[in-house]
Amino acid sequence: MVDLRDNSGLDLKLDIERPRLIFGEDIKFSTPAVRTIDQMKEVLLDKDIREPVELYYMYRDIHKTTDSPILKEHKLRFDVTVIKSSHLGREFMKTAGHYHPGSFGELYEVVFGRCLCLLQRPDSEDYRVIKEVILVEAVQGQKIVIPPGFGHILINPGPDCLVTSNWVSGCFSSSYELYREAKGAAYFVILPDNTSEGMTTPGLKIKINIIKNQQFKELARIKFAKPAGEIKRFSLMENNPIYNIINRNAQALNFLNHPLDYEYNDIFIYTDT
Ligand SMILES: [Fe+2]
Repeated sequence: MVDLRDNSGLDLKLDIERPRLIFGEDIKFSTPAVRTIDQMKEVLLDKDIREPVELYYMYRDIHKTTDSPILKEHKLRFDVTVIKSSHLGREFMKTAGHYHPGSFGELYEVVFGRCLCLLQRPDSEDYRVIKEVILVEAVQGQKIVIPPGFGHILINPGPDCLVTSNWVSGCFSSSYELYREAKGAAYFVILPDNTSEGMTTPGLKIKINIIKNQQFKELARIKFAKPAGEIKRFSLMENNPIYNIINRNAQALNFLNHPLDYEYNDIFIYTDT
């Protein structure tokens, strides 16, 4: 059992074997939505794999019961996602991927484990033309701002399970269709094997291989990045969980409901060599 209180800002424990969350008494939560391999078939590189049956668990709209009014006032939702440490055939374990309607962004934090976040910005006229791709490498405590216009998947490179939390506007539902139609993200991130050269990521030094998704007409090259340490206007501070922002400085989360009123040019530090 891993105590996630200091990392998440909430009274949470991780039952690492199952893996599932255990909530303290003052937390409002519901049973998680489970993403299964059947639901993921279309976005996998290896479509015939059957295991693991359950991939990740989405705990949506969890918060301290006393915080319900402030979340409602600011039109925000807080989620926690638990992603198994396994792989999907040749691919690293990943989420299905989605876009947000309009220009809504998102704010993630790595609560436990290691994370690769693959961001892609499609052309406004053609979703099969990808103008920008960023692979963000992050570890426990680091925050990832998803800027407006970017679809995203989370990848768990292991060896532990990955737990992320996120703040997001409560005013929309995610849109999974374009990832399904494109049969996955712009690139597949796979485990290296003996037949291919592969590469080592600049940040976390993870050995990976990258395959282009042939469904796309044009793909920008991948830029590697890590999250900026502190971003004052979003109240992001190292070693301070994003959950606490709602009580410390809720205005700083306004960018989630008014994304185009803000700048995003300093959210990543590019690490390409
Ligand atoms: Fe999202």
